Amino acid sequence: MTYGDYSIKDGHLYISGVDCVYLAQKYSTPLYVMSEDVVRANCREFKGALEKYYDSCGLITYASKAFCTKEMCRIVNSEGLGLDAVSGGELYTAREAGFPMEKINYHGNNKTDEEIKMGVDFGVGRFIADNETELEKIDRYARESGRVQKVLIRVTPGVDAHTHDFIKTGQIDSKFGMAIETGAADRITDFALTLKNIELSGLHCHIGSQIFEKEPFVETARVMLDYINAVEERTGIEFEDLVLGGGFGIKYVEGDDPFSYDEMLKEVLTYVKKRREDEGKKLLHLGFEPGRAIAGPAGVTLYTVGNVKEIPDIRTYVSVDGGMTDNPRYILYGADYTFIVANRADECADKPCTVCGKCCESGDMLGENVMLSGNVKSGDILAVTSTGAYNFSMASNYNRVPRPPVVFVKDGQDFLAVRRETLADLCERDI
Ligand code: LLP
Repeated sequence: MTYGDYSIKDGHLYISGVDCVYLAQKYSTPLYVMSEDVVRANCREFKGALEKYYDSCGLITYASKAFCTKEMCRIVNSEGLGLDAVSGGELYTAREAGFPMEKINYHGNNKTDEEIKMGVDFGVGRFIADNETELEKIDRYARESGRVQKVLIRVTPGVDAHTHDFIKTGQIDSKFGMAIETGAADRITDFALTLKNIELSGLHCHIGSQIFEKEPFVETARVMLDYINAVEERTGIEFEDLVLGGGFGIKYVEGDDPFSYDEMLKEVLTYVKKRREDEGKKLLHLGFEPGRAIAGPAGVTLYTVGNVKEIPDIRTYVSVDGGMTDNPRYILYGADYTFIVANRADECADKPCTVCGKCCESGDMLGENVMLSGNVKSGDILAVTSTGAYNFSMASNYNRVPRPPVVFVKDGQDFLAVRRETLADLCERDI
């Protein structure tokens, strides 16, 4: 796995050979920077594992909810990956970027009628259906368009992944999918088989996000293969597809110790392959949906330090020109990040600080007790690393704060991929 692409030269932090201080001056702050080199390296690791351990019989679909722009869709497409879209907005962005629709898995636990129709009309490769109501609608729109739509059913395998409660999805009590344990998954598969404009090609599951252990993934594969066998025996159908979701953890701070994706995939793929061979069955077309693992380590956010407020014996607040509007993950999950003063990158980080944003909200923080250079002062450029996933995509306009632009860097070059939101943009939809 490739974590960032950082170096330090003359006291400045560089990403993919580009000086972060120069980027801050050129594009202003706050600024999202994405390393195309890192995105590509991570795409290759996943795709390469499928080639090495599973005869390429499958598709890695980048979970675009992590970071979705036209440029990102183009990069992922050029690496030969598919895409996981979860809304009409992601689907539309992918289409605008020229992404091949047949390589899209279309998710969502409550797709609207318009979104379902859009997916069918666009010709997405696979719908991941969450429930019976949705299945009925997919069938109806497919019939109206004279198509038979390939569909996978999302099931909950009952595997508990040790991660934050808000990003756990594999257990029975989840808004996503149908549980195997309760019989709900049997019910929906039987129902799908009665629908004429649906081709039930397989099953899907996803157990959660930011997972640091390999075992739950192997266990999930085991549960899903058992269940596939049970359904095949009961109904006489033969499944083609199995998607095992995403959720592979990344390193945000020293001490985070994610597994190697290659090793994890090797374990899961070898297990699935051997088991199918032992059972005398054909290889299933396998899918994985990494989002954070591809985009997360590629990103760094740059801010300008404004006010530095020392409250004696309590703490030092270092205010930046962004905050929860461009990165709500601390306020939502207490997520940890690594902070580096980009123009003092070679100085010792020995001062505990609370990095706060500019919103009118006490909880608007990016981190507490983070170590910064003791010389940090107004005008410095603060870099936060591993912000490529679920930052840009979860940004808001709280306090009417315009959203930052996105710049890609690659091998010493930089280019703008998303322009800065303007004040006029903020009023654009107001009547
Ligand atoms: N597949 C499905 C069906 C998913 O629901 C997700 C994430 C993924 C794949 C990609 O998971 P990843 O590889 O990125 O972990 N906003 C939260 C994360 C929510 C994840 C939602 N689903 C965060 O900032 O941590």
